[in-house]
Amino acid sequence: MMKNIFEAPFVREMCETTANMYRLGWDERNGGNISYLLDEKEVGEYLDLTKVLRTIPLMGVNEEDFDASPLEGKIFIVTGTGKYFKNVEKDPETNLGIVRIGKGGKNIELLWGYKGGGRPTSEFPAHMMSHIARLKVDPENRVVMHSHPTNTLAMNFVHDLDEKKFTHTLWEMCTECIVVFPEGVGVLPWMLCGTSEIGVATAKKMEQFRLVVWAMHGIYGAGKTMDETFGLIETVEKAAQIYMLTAHLPRKNTIKDADMLKLIELFGISCRKDFLDL
Ligand code: 13P
Ligand code: ZN
Repeated sequence: MMKNIFEAPFVREMCETTANMYRLGWDERNGGNISYLLDEKEVGEYLDLTKVLRTIPLMGVNEEDFDASPLEGKIFIVTGTGKYFKNVEKDPETNLGIVRIGKGGKNIELLWGYKGGGRPTSEFPAHMMSHIARLKVDPENRVVMHSHPTNTLAMNFVHDLDEKKFTHTLWEMCTECIVVFPEGVGVLPWMLCGTSEIGVATAKKMEQFRLVVWAMHGIYGAGKTMDETFGLIETVEKAAQIYMLTAHLPRKNTIKDADMLKLIELFGISCRKDFLDL
C-alpha cells in the first residue's frame, strides 16, 4: 500500500518553503525555483518508481542540452517553469514535479506532478550543475534554491559588485552574518538567465560558495536541508535590508573586522580571511 504523496514530508516542505518565500515578497509571479534531491527509498514509499509518466528533454529556455550524467538515476522534486510560488501550496501536483535524471543524463523521467503538461524550471541547467558542484564539496548537499529577494536585488544596483566588497558589506550589517556564511557570497555579473552558460558560471562559484548573487536578477543558495538553504538566503536578505535602510544615512557605528574575527574564533570556524581588512 503506497503512502499518500500529498502528505510526503518533501512535498510538504516544498509547499511550506515556496509559501514562505512568496509571503516574504521574494518571489513575484513565477520568480524563483527550487530543486531538492530526494532519497530513492523514501520516494518509493509514495510512488511506483517503475512508472514513468512522461520523458522530458533536458534543457534550459534555449533548448540547448547539457550534461547531467553525474546525476543519472537521481530523483529531484522541482518547481515547474512559469509556475507561481503563491499557487504551490494549494495545487502541488500542477506546480511541482518529481523527476529522475534519465540514462546518460540526457533526459528526465517524470514520476509525479507537472499536471497539465508542465516541465521543470527554465533554470534547470543552473540547478543541476550546481547540485553536481556542491555534491563534490559536500556529499550531503540536497537543496538548490533561486529567488529574487527585494533588498538583495536593490543592493545590486547601488553597491559595488566585487565579491570581497559585497560580502564584506553584508558581514558588516548583522553580527551573525559571518557565522552564517563564513565563506562569503559569490557574485556573477548580469548574464542571460535560463542558459547553460549561466549554469556553468553558477556551478563554478558553487565550488567555493553556498550563495551566489546573480547581479540585478537574484540569488542562488545551496545546502544540506531546506532550512539551511532558506536560512542562508534569508540572512543575506536581512543584511541587504539593513544596508538599504542605512546606506544613504551617515554611518556612526560599525561592526569592526577585528570583532568579526572574534566571532569566527568563538564559533571555531574558518572564514574567507582575504575578505576581511585586518
Ligand atoms: P521559471 O518559472 O522557469 O522557474 O523561472 C523563474 C526565474 O526566476 C528565472 O530566473
Ligand atoms: Zn530568476
